[in-house]
Amino acid sequence: MKNYDNVIIFDHPLIHHKVAILRDERTSMKEFRELVEEITTLMTYESLKDGVLTTEVEVKTPLETCKQTMVADNSVVIVPILRAGLGMVNGVHVLFPSAKVGHIGMYRNEETLKPETYYCKLPEGIEEKLVLLVDPMLATGGSACDAIQLLKEKGCKHIKFMAIIGAPEGVSKVAEEHPDVNIYVSTLDRCLNENGYILPGLGDAGDRLFGTK
Ligand code: PRP
Ligand code: URA
Repeated sequence: MKNYDNVIIFDHPLIHHKVAILRDERTSMKEFRELVEEITTLMTYESLKDGVLTTEVEVKTPLETCKQTMVADNSVVIVPILRAGLGMVNGVHVLFPSAKVGHIGMYRNEETLKPETYYCKLPEGIEEKLVLLVDPMLATGGSACDAIQLLKEKGCKHIKFMAIIGAPEGVSKVAEEHPDVNIYVSTLDRCLNENGYILPGLGDAGDRLFGTK
């Protein structure tokens, strides 16, 4: 895959370790859900190191008074792409408990692999917030591109996208269609199969999170 300025692939032993367990077909639904949350928290820590609104406060320590920056309240909105993105919400909330949550419902048409949008509900004032769009799987890139486009049409100007596993095809598509959006992927996989599944991947993330088939 080409190098893109707006693509950040994580290269961290802790994340690789957790992704290895996540991929394993023997991993239970409970463990899968916990791992998705833990990986999301690790990714959030890194991906929000810039772009978050901060305010300066004065703190009185037992020894003296100092100035310190804090993250401004309500500065981040989490937007999961349903269903599988829901599994990442708690992982962001661990670090940003006050973040409001918008929802975009999409599913891929199994024949065309094109996403269909069936739901959208976003918090008021999202235009001015840093929007963290989350979905564990970035396959063809169709869902992420359409979700980003929808957010832009609603006026969002600051968007970051986080996926746990990305296929080169999908990462390139999102990077090229939305060069203003930073894309964070914990692991870049090899390719897509003929059904649009990521290889080696982890299977269907929504099914593994929620116990469906
Ligand atoms: C999966 C996944 C992404 C999408 C990625 O969702 O969670 O949203 O596929 O594929 P793409 O990059 O080719 O668009 P799916 O459509 O299976 O819906 P679900 O989360 O409800 O299972
Ligand atoms: N969606 C998934 O859940 N898994 C894939 O491999 C591709 C799309």
